[in-house]
Amino acid sequence: MNKITDLLDNGGLKDVIFSAQYEKELFIEADKTRRAVYGTDVYLRGLIEFSNYCKNDCLYCGIRNSNKNLKRYRLSPEEIVSCCENGYKLGFRTFVLQSGEDSFFTDKIICGIVASIKEKFSDCAVTLSVGEKTKETYRSFFSAGADRYLLRHETANEEHYRKLHPQYMKLSERKQCLFDLKEIGFQVGAGFMVGSPYQTQENIIEDLIFLRKLNPDMIGIGPFINHADTPFASFPNGSLEVTLRLIAVLRLLFPFALIPATTALGTIAHNGRELGLKAGANVVMPNLSPTEIRKLYSLYDNKICTGDEAAECRRCIEHRIIKAGYNAAVSRGDSKLWTKSQNKNTTD
Ligand code: 5AD
Ligand code: FES
Repeated sequence: MNKITDLLDNGGLKDVIFSAQYEKELFIEADKTRRAVYGTDVYLRGLIEFSNYCKNDCLYCGIRNSNKNLKRYRLSPEEIVSCCENGYKLGFRTFVLQSGEDSFFTDKIICGIVASIKEKFSDCAVTLSVGEKTKETYRSFFSAGADRYLLRHETANEEHYRKLHPQYMKLSERKQCLFDLKEIGFQVGAGFMVGSPYQTQENIIEDLIFLRKLNPDMIGIGPFINHADTPFASFPNGSLEVTLRLIAVLRLLFPFALIPATTALGTIAHNGRELGLKAGANVVMPNLSPTEIRKLYSLYDNKICTGDEAAECRRCIEHRIIKAGYNAAVSRGDSKLWTKSQNKNTTD
């Protein structure tokens, strides 16, 4: 199975991903690889979904601008920092600040929030996930202290991208953002949904080829889950099995990557995140947002953990990680790809 890169090059990877034939061997090899690189550590990230306003209109997403059935909210900078305070006490050393593309949060406001979190918690990493911005803006976020940036490419295929997004959104711009972020020095996360409407097997292979070119520090994938108030309401959800096999393939193709067992994976199956860990994932991102607003960050239907307090999720997830045979790591959990490049820079 260490021939996985050859299989990607010679077109043989489809069988591995889309049939159950090699599944057992695949999961064993992936788990072996994650243990060799990251041991049994599973890194915890505290996720703060600070605004569900979004100027975009992605057809799959429940917080899209056209969804008028959704109550919109924003947390204030003080509320965001107070979520981090709570998270710090619970042992989180990475905070992920995610929102829709909300122009209320100007570059200056976001930089201010990042700076005050870094000042208070200098031993913590801050990850931003606030969408497409100019390189200049990304640079200002980096200077303010942000360490990582998540921006899923969603699909690497032009035609597929156009079926998932309004016509003013451009795949080339999305890809450019990712390369800009890398160049600036962020630890960068890309990714895509599994089983999104109109996705072909070939598209997924293209995603893997694109990821190989980008060589990201983090790769987030999860099943597509339909949302009743979107144009994709009646499309079927993505497959648990294909998502798990893809996690394993990603682990083998990108041994140093941080790969989350996503909330979407935990939503389509009660033990989805545990299965994700066993397939090679090594990150989980429990929610730190105030319970009152959690239901409103509804990217898809039936999202888990929307009624739980941050402390409950923290306890629950640690229990699940340990039961699955891993260790809930209390550290920043930087990407080894990035750490290696930093060491190289200082010794060069
Ligand atoms: N199902 C699954 N994942 C979704 N996302 C958005 N909408 C959905 C959905 N309906 C994912 C996108 C986005 C991330 C924040 O959530 O990939 O990048
Ligand atoms: Fe939120 Fe289990 S992780 S309740």
